[in-house]
Parts: sequence; structure tokens; C-alpha cells
Amino acid sequence: MKITIAEILAGRAPEGGEITARGWVRTRRDAKGFSFLEISDGSCLANLQAVVDEALPTYSAVKQAHTGAAVAVRGQLVASPGGGQKWELRATEVTLIGPADDTYPLQKKRHSDEFLREQAHLRARTNKFGAIFRLRSRLSLAIHDFFRQRGFFYIHTPIITGSDCEGAGEMFRVTTLPPGGQPADDFFGREASLTVSGQLPAEMLALALGRVYTFGPAFRAENSNTPRHAAEFWMIEPEAAFADLQDNMDLAESLVKHLTEFALKEARDDLALFDRFVEPGLFDRLANLVAEPYQRLPYDEAIDILKSSGAKFEFRPEWGGDLQTEHERYLCEAHFKKPVIVYDYPAAIKPFYMRLSDDERTVAAMDLLAPRVGELVGGSQREERLEVLTRRMESLHLNLANYWWYLDSRRYGGAPHAGFGLGFERLLMMLTGVNNIRDVIPFPRTPNNLEF
Ligand code: 4AD
Ligand code: MG
Repeated sequence: MKITIAEILAGRAPEGGEITARGWVRTRRDAKGFSFLEISDGSCLANLQAVVDEALPTYSAVKQAHTGAAVAVRGQLVASPGGGQKWELRATEVTLIGPADDTYPLQKKRHSDEFLREQAHLRARTNKFGAIFRLRSRLSLAIHDFFRQRGFFYIHTPIITGSDCEGAGEMFRVTTLPPGGQPADDFFGREASLTVSGQLPAEMLALALGRVYTFGPAFRAENSNTPRHAAEFWMIEPEAAFADLQDNMDLAESLVKHLTEFALKEARDDLALFDRFVEPGLFDRLANLVAEPYQRLPYDEAIDILKSSGAKFEFRPEWGGDLQTEHERYLCEAHFKKPVIVYDYPAAIKPFYMRLSDDERTVAAMDLLAPRVGELVGGSQREERLEVLTRRMESLHLNLANYWWYLDSRRYGGAPHAGFGLGFERLLMMLTGVNNIRDVIPFPRTPNNLEF
């Protein structure tokens, strides 16, 4: 592999000798007798400045090195006399690898997020999107570390499924049938869809391996064109045997805190960009997120607080209704001023698999609500009692025959267990201050949008 700018700036270039930096031209400035090329290769936020003398035999390449062009610059790394950078590359040879002309859409200036969404294939070359996608990568690895340290096994659950985990009817159909074909002739001989969650298969493995987690894509055909919903998003779903709602809340809180601390420590350079240009004060807000225990309260109390808040909501808070994003944000931004875990939701608004309370009014659900994004985590203790589960599924008119395997896990060695799903994009929004989910995933899928 060729050396990257991150490696060069970290001092991994051979001392004294010449190195070659490769990347894309951000800007070129011509001065008397010299040109300055700002080169970025995406390996880090910083650019490398190359200084090219007009007298170089290969100087003509510089004249074609417009913004966006790919170049290789060979030279010596020297302390930079100019302000703004510690090192610069004194060029001995410049090669134009791939040209770009003035139709390159990302000319040097600040572009709007909307414009950059239309250039999703190129936007990762900007400072902001480069920082987001590097953070996405680092956090993914931090998630694996977190679970490995706690004895969780990483499992892979199917993407094509025959069951609707959340029971919300928001599945994308998967078929090989020609128009008008018979379901029995379809590839699987029955209806198939893209999964909305890996939970049900994860439960089976938790009841075998003890502690497991998935980290994969989920697909939802919800027609909610909001800044917080994507049709394809990534979810982290741990599931633990012999765990209850309390354990589940503890795990969710420590995961969110761990990832926030990780970002503050390991991705500080990239985060500084967001603190400066996206959400001034971001560092302070993130430090607050790890400083104190999150607020925990039952749904009943949350509704009381909302009702007596005097705040103007579009949807009136009422016992039995789902919390809207405006309610979630009120609780953590205006009222408690920190993340909030609401638990024990009304049974009627939650899926079949959540554990029913003794009075059958509520289920052992918990949602972790975060400032700016609202619901970040949704989870529950699962219903482990075969008879109660069957009764609940029947009342929701689920086809029990499709779930025989799920019920088997309660028929044989059923045990208390719990888990949750954390939306990866929402976590990134919380950590960067970016307020549209379309801007934290390279190629977002949303209603009426399947470009790229
Ligand atoms: O609350 P949800 O629907 O929970 C489940 O799917 C459970 N089966 C998870 C489990 O217990 N294993 O979704 C979990 C999280 C939400 O809190 C949210 O952060 C995210 O997934 N999420 C979405 N993120 C982006 N776009 C969407 N359309 C999302 N829907 C849910
Ligand atoms: Mg939810």
C-alpha cells in the first residue's frame, strides 16, 4: 500500500528521504515562481500542502492540476515556514493521475447540504462528509470492542425474512415473480421481505449463546419523510439471556456513554470540525452526555410531565398514545436537559414480543431518548411465558404457524431475556450535530429517492 497523508503527518514517512503523496487537489494557488497545491486523500481531515517550483521539469502537470484532479507529488517533507500547517512537501516531481476540469461540482466554496445530497457520489471528498464517514467507521469498530469486552458474541441474522418482527406492516417485499405470478411459484414458495430488525433470530441465539449482538442493515417502508427516518438504516441489536429490563437499560446507557467517550477521545480532530461549523458548543454538549446518569422514568410519569408542561405540542400528549418526537425532545431538551429512558409503555402501542406486566396495562419496554434526535434506542424485556405470548399474538391476529420456531424457544427452556436496537445513524446525528439522517449515511434511501 502507498503511504497516506494521515501516515505522513503522523511521522511515518521515512526520515530525510523523499516520499510521494497521492490525493485530490483541493486548491491550487500560483505565486511568483511557485505553485501551492492543497492535497487531500481522505485519510484525515488535514490537507498536505505541496510547494512546486516553476523550474521543475514536471511543472506543466501543475497547470492541469485543477480542483478535483488526482495527483501524485514526490518530494521532501520539510517544516513549513507558512502559517496553518506544520509540514509541507517540497516537490521534486508532480504527476497528474486523473484530471478534473471546471465542471467539477465541488469547486472550492461552501456548498449547502441539499446541493451535496445531489452529489452524494462526490460529497465524501468534502471535509464535512469525509469526517462523518471516518467517524462511522471508527464507531463501528468501537461497537464491536464494547461488546467483545462484555462477553457478547457477534452474530449475523438474515436480511431476507418471512416474519414481520415489529408487526407494523412496513416491509419491503422481495420477489422473483413476474407481474401477475402466483405466490406459490415465488422463489421461496411463500412471501418474503427485507427484515425490519434482526431481533427474533437474535433471541434464538441469545437463548443458546447467552449474550449476542447483531450490527446490520434494517429496511422499513415507512412513509415518514422526516429528518430522522431512512428506508435503509443500520441497527445495533444486543440480546442477553437471563437479563431483565433493568439490565437492558444499564447496557443501553453504558453503550451510548462508551461511544460518546470514544468519539471525544479517538475522533477529536474530526469532531472539532462539527464543533466549529455544524454545532458550536458540541464538545460541551457531548461532555454533558457522559457526565451524569441518564434520567429514568415510567411512561405514566412522562405523560404527566408533558401534560402539565404548558408547552404547545402539535400532538396532545395523552395516556395510551405513542410519544411523538416533539414530546421526546421536550423531555430531554427542555425538562431534564439530558438523555432520558422512558419505560413501561402501554401494551397496546408496542409489539407482541414485549413482556406483559401483571396488571396487563403495560409492557416492559424502554426507549432511550436523546437530545436533538429523540428516540435513539428502543428495546424491551421479552415475553418468555409461552401461554402469555401465545395469547398476545392471537389477539394481534398474528399467524402462529409462521412463528412455530419462535414459540419453541419458550416451549423448551424458556428464560427471561432482554435486548434493544440502537439506530446507528441517529447515534451519528447525536454525536456530530448533523440534523438530517440523509447526511450521515453515504447513499441514503428515503421515499422517492433511489439515486446512486
Ligand atoms: O424501536 P425499534 O423499532 O426497535 C426494534 O426494531 C427492535 N426490534 C429492536 C430490538 O429490540 N432488538 O428500532 C430501534 C431503533 C430506534 O430507536 C431508532 O434509533 C432506529 O432503530 N430506527 C431508525 N433509524 C433510522 N430510520 C428509521 N426508519 C428507523 N426506525 C428505527
Ligand atoms: Mg421504537
